[in-house]
Parts: sequence; C-alpha cells; structure tokens
Amino acid sequence: MGYPHKSHPRETAVLSKHFGDPEARTLDGWKKRGGYRALEQALAMTPTDIVNIVKESGLRGRGGAGFPTGLKWSFMKQGDGKPHYLCCNADESEPGTFKDREIMRWTPHSLIEGCAIGAYAIGAETAYIYVRGEFTEPIRRLNEALKECYAANILGSNAMGTGKTINIYVHSGAGAYICGEETALMNSLEGRRGNPRIKPPFPAVAGLFGMPTTINNVETLAAVPHILINGAEWYKAMSLSSPKSMGTKLFSVCGNVARPGNYEIVMGFPFKDFLYDLCGGPLAGRKFKGVIPGGCSVPIQTMEEAEATMMDYEGFVAQGTMLGSGGVIIFDDAQSIPRMTARHARFYAHESCAQCTQCREGTAWTTKILDRIVAGQGTFEDLDTLLEMADNMTGKTICVLSDSCATVVVSALQKYRHEFEALITGKRSSTVAASSGAAA
Ligand SMILES: Cc1cc2nc3c(=O)[nH]c(=O)nc-3n(C[C@H](O)[C@H](O)[C@H](O)COP(=O)(O)O)c2cc1C
Ligand code: SF4
Repeated sequence: MGYPHKSHPRETAVLSKHFGDPEARTLDGWKKRGGYRALEQALAMTPTDIVNIVKESGLRGRGGAGFPTGLKWSFMKQGDGKPHYLCCNADESEPGTFKDREIMRWTPHSLIEGCAIGAYAIGAETAYIYVRGEFTEPIRRLNEALKECYAANILGSNAMGTGKTINIYVHSGAGAYICGEETALMNSLEGRRGNPRIKPPFPAVAGLFGMPTTINNVETLAAVPHILINGAEWYKAMSLSSPKSMGTKLFSVCGNVARPGNYEIVMGFPFKDFLYDLCGGPLAGRKFKGVIPGGCSVPIQTMEEAEATMMDYEGFVAQGTMLGSGGVIIFDDAQSIPRMTARHARFYAHESCAQCTQCREGTAWTTKILDRIVAGQGTFEDLDTLLEMADNMTGKTICVLSDSCATVVVSALQKYRHEFEALITGKRSSTVAASSGAAA
C-alpha cells in the first residue's frame, strides 16, 4: 500500500496509489495527479449515463454487503420533485477494518470527487460524509479539502461553472458501531439516537429527512472517479476470477501476522499468496490457526479453507464465509478461539442498540456463557445453549448486528469445538500453544 509499507509488487495501487504522499492531500497536488477531471467529465454527462457506466463497471459496495453500486443509484427515482441526498458512510467501526480512514487521511479529494459525482448521478444537491467522531485527523483533512474546493468553485451553487449545485458537509458521529448501519446513520444525522429503522421503506424511497437517499461506503465512492476516467472495461479487467467481482479492493490486515497493514489487490487474488507472500506469513516460530476475513461479522475460516479461497465476493462465499468489509483478522496457534469468541460477543453486547429482545438479551447471555466457559466453569450443555440462542438471534431482528454475533459464535463452535470442550474438561493446553499473551 505504500504507507507504512513499501508497496508489494503484487499489489495494484489505484485507491492507495498516493497514500503516504502529503502533496496529494492538497487541491493543487490532487489536480496534478489527475484529480477533478472525472468530476468535470461527469458534469458534462447526463446522470443516467453516469449510472450506466458505474453499472457496467460491476462496482459493488465496499461497506460489507457488496450490493451493486450502479443498481443502487438507479433506484433513486428522478423527477419526483423531492430533495435527494447522498450519505457517505465513513463510520468505519467494524473491528479489524481500517481502510476508509486511510483514504480520507491521504486522499481526501478522491472521496470528495466521488461524492460529488455520486450526488450528481442520483439527483442530489447535498451530500453528507458521516465520519466516526474519533477520526479527528480524517475529519480535519476532509474539512481542509472542502474549504479548498469551495474557494476554487469546484463545489457550491455553480459547481465548476456548470450552474449545478453540489454541497458536501462533513458530519462527525459519536463513535458507536451501530451508527455505521445505514438507517441508524440517517437517524444520527438527523440528530436522533442512532437506532436502526425497520425496512421497508428503503432509503431510496424514504431516507434522510424522509427523502430519497443513497448510502455508500468511502471506498465505493472513491473508486468512482477512476471508473469514469478510465472506463468500465478498464475496471472490469482488474479481476483474476469471477465475472461478478471487479476492480481492486483494499484489505486491512491485523492480528498475528508478520506484516499487518492495508493492501490493495485485484479481485480474485489467491488468499494463500496474500497471507504468506504479501502479509509475510506468521510471526517467527508460530503457525496460522484461523482467519476472520471480512471484519468481525463473518464466519471464521480454518487455514485449509482460507488457503483454498479466491479473494472476491463469490470466492469467500464458496469457502463458507464472506468478503464483508475486507478486514482480515489473523489468529495463530497461541490464540484461544473461545477467548476470541467471548471478546467478540462482548463487543456486540456493548454495541447493541437494545431495540430487539433477541439481540439485547442474546448478545448479553452469549457473552456471559462464553465468559463462563473461558473461566473453566462451562458445561457441555452451555455449548448447546449457545447454538440455540444463535438460532434465535438470526434473521429475527431489525438489523443484522444480532446475526453477526451469532455468526461468529456458530462458526467458532463448528470449526473449533474441541477448544471449547478442552476448556470444559480442563485440557486447554492441548489446543493452544504456549505464549505469554494467550492465557485463556
Ligand atoms: C452494524 C452495522 C455496522 C455497519 N458499519 C458500516 C460502516 O462502518 N461503514 C460502512 O460503509 N458500512 C457499514 N455497514 C453497512 C451499511 O449499512 C451499508 O450497507 C453500506 O454503508 C452501504 O454502502 P456500500 O453499498 O457502498 O457498501 C454496517 C452495517 C451494519 C449492520
Ligand atoms: S439487532 Fe440489535 S443493534 Fe440491530 S436494531 Fe436490533 S437491538 Fe439494535
């Protein structure tokens, strides 16, 4: 990714090309690197033509669900006389995911340009960038970049001298994981408590302030100027495998690995090469044990599964997990999977907005039972109770935070049940290699 690592020769730096380059943060520097040509081009096109190019490129949302971006934009009904809104989701609260903040820190203009194009394409004159409040540097960088854009008439009521209005505002969130969920984000933007809303109505029909709204992730929007300048075919060509997953993807890597950090690769890259070549393999003297490849909300993979995975939306599904937000969390043989699972459950219990009983009670009881097992006081019956609760926490709530908690628990129990049983029978040392930092 170029920063803090030297870019690996097998990376394809499109979004991360200028990470680590302070000059790229300024308007002049960004323009020297081709910035705002895509917006100029877009403003001379019809919104429908832009939507069609993005559709044709195959770009899919990088916030977690992977929904096709052009299709999402086409849901915004034109000519309805209502104000439309674009919300950029820069909450980035998913544990293990730290790519969006780097886009904002190093190339704030790339996001602003993507937001401006997206807003114009969906018929919105106003876009909000909802940023997690703790991200003080990204917020500062975005505000500095916006100031430059207004001074240069790139934004405002006569954007780039075209007579079109595009205003972009940065909104600082309070730092709750749930505010990354799109309907909670809109509530929070409206000044209300960040609780998810029941869908339907979907945001494209009734979103922010009850008006048609599109919500897109930072990485999704930052890819749009590149697609407009280079064309849909160029974007589609950046894929090693599936015709359904296109372009490059930023993966954030953390945990027990030699070279953590952000890596940008083309879709379909072999996960085995990614883990052992780009990321440098395990730490000295250790072996990889498992990977959660898509932030903390997707099923854990054993190493056999991970090593057989092609890194695109379909490739991860084929190996029993999901690409999610692209946060790769790696565990080595000194880590206890039950302990990791308990830590995840505690996170979900803490972040639940508590509207749904299954989520509020389910995440809290899951945490309690897992803590009991980790403390060596669990029973075999507890394992059955965890699975039964996970079943009740799945597909029955307003948003999928509840499902995410259940997913981690079920996959850990399916694939590493022996570790839970070893804790119950007092034989933990048979499953976790010696390490000072991994006491269960
Ligand atoms: C609990 C929860 C947290 C989420 N957090 C984020 C987030 O921090 N950033 C993000 O882009 N999407 C997040 N999402 C997904 C968003 O709801 C939404 O799908 C996404 O922003 C849409 O953008 P995209 O189509 O460009 O991916 C979250 C979803 C859930 C259920
Ligand atoms: S599932 Fe959990 S976080 Fe989502 S709305 Fe229900 S209680 Fe809130």
